Amino acid sequence: METSSFGIAIMAAGKGTRLKSRRPKVLHEIGGQALLLHVIAAARTIAPAEKIYCIIGHEAARVRAAAESTGVAFVLQAEQRGTGHALQQLKAHFAATGEALPDHLLVLSGDVPLIQPSTLEALCAFHLGERAAMTILTAVPTDPTGYGRVLRTSPSAAEVTAIVEQKSLAPDQISAPEINSGIYCFRTSALFAHLDSLSTNNAHGEFYLTDIAALLVAGHQRVVALKSSGSVDEVLGANTIEEMMHLDAAMRLGTARRLMAQGVTIFRPETCVIDAQVEVGSDTIIEPFVQLLGNTKVGSECRIASYSAVESTTIGDNVLLRHGCIVSESTIASGAKLGPYAHLRPGSEIGEEAHIGNFVETKKMKMGRGSKANHLAYLGDATIGSGVNIGAGTITCNYDGTLKHPTKIGNNVFVGSNSTLVAPISLDDEAYIAAASCITEDVPPGALALGRSRQTIKPGWVSARKAAASKRCE
Ligand code: UD1
Ligand code: MG
Repeated sequence: METSSFGIAIMAAGKGTRLKSRRPKVLHEIGGQALLLHVIAAARTIAPAEKIYCIIGHEAARVRAAAESTGVAFVLQAEQRGTGHALQQLKAHFAATGEALPDHLLVLSGDVPLIQPSTLEALCAFHLGERAAMTILTAVPTDPTGYGRVLRTSPSAAEVTAIVEQKSLAPDQISAPEINSGIYCFRTSALFAHLDSLSTNNAHGEFYLTDIAALLVAGHQRVVALKSSGSVDEVLGANTIEEMMHLDAAMRLGTARRLMAQGVTIFRPETCVIDAQVEVGSDTIIEPFVQLLGNTKVGSECRIASYSAVESTTIGDNVLLRHGCIVSESTIASGAKLGPYAHLRPGSEIGEEAHIGNFVETKKMKMGRGSKANHLAYLGDATIGSGVNIGAGTITCNYDGTLKHPTKIGNNVFVGSNSTLVAPISLDDEAYIAAASCITEDVPPGALALGRSRQTIKPGWVSARKAAASKRCE
């Protein structure tokens, strides 16, 4: 299909009054990403970024900042006076800049986030094939309430007479089943020729883009509708938090299905929260109530146990995350075993076959192959070699109240339980730290470091104390 003649407008200027939220509607997230970014991603499959015009208005600076990195163009609708008014601003933009008009315009709504590239392609192809001035993407959901309805000249005809908004439906139109998705194709010249004829004579006192259908028909232009062949969820709008959470669940289930089709086992997928961009290798098992967020990548043959939450982390093959691991912005190499209840904060790099056990917290810490910290430790700003054993209760004292200091631990070092390593400090290869040591000086290779006071034994002390006490009571 020839889409090179298409420009794309994304209407994203509205406030989203029905959300009752301070955050602009198009910046609310589903599947771990702002609505607008989902729409831009779909648009990018049809046109290059510079031919995508994002119409922004309410909290424009915030919306622009969130979408800037995609490279799309922005058009300001300073006052939001309706979807028709939004496109009037686009027309003004072309007039002011002298930019060449695209032959056709694909118009997307910033609050219809599940739209799929294949559906957009089908819409554009249908629009071109029908030689229409306007083509409306429609659907027939179980409950059409709230949506504009598309009225065809007859049920089987492609031609449309009008789009009627919910509040303007006549009694005999209330049950009209076919909804306007808010996604359209226009011949740009026909749209721009009629945009200034829109009026605000309606329930909201706004310029409705939907009124353009009847205006084009009155101007003897061809207006047609295409019923989406995809899932109905694809074209549903997110106008309330409840609608948004419905779409969030639908999108996440879609992500889980994609992963399952690639050989990932997901037990009770409806309980898992998996963001849209997450990738997982085959034969990995994901237990119920797992969260995989951001751009997390999990290798093959891993097991992620229940209640683990992993954000923007790369995990190799054959990794085991036992129950309740909290991991963010880290890397875990193949064969590593973590948890239960390990906490990897940003910048943790766990080497191959390494073990991080229960209630171990790490931050900016690199651990080499086969090293182990199996219980109750804090390892921050530390570089740890391979074959190291970190005993239970080991603490890197990395912060002096003002600055952070590094701890360096060589290969095959043994750190006995309950040691405090006061940074900056270096334990060289094969060093051996006696349990319960407070280490304040660097330890040379192969040396034993004892950092605790000697034990004193007082034989018979307990019975002597008891005897003294009973004498006092006499
Ligand atoms: C709109 C359609 C309705 C359709 C529904 C599908 C109109 C008048 N109605 O209703 O027929 O069934 O979408 O989801 O178009 N926007 C702007 N500037 C504005 C107003 C809105 O950019 O001045 C943007 C919004 O940010 C939003 C999109 O346009 O992304 C649609 O606006 P919204 O208020 O959600 O329209 P609906 O009531 O959903
Ligand atoms: Mg809407």
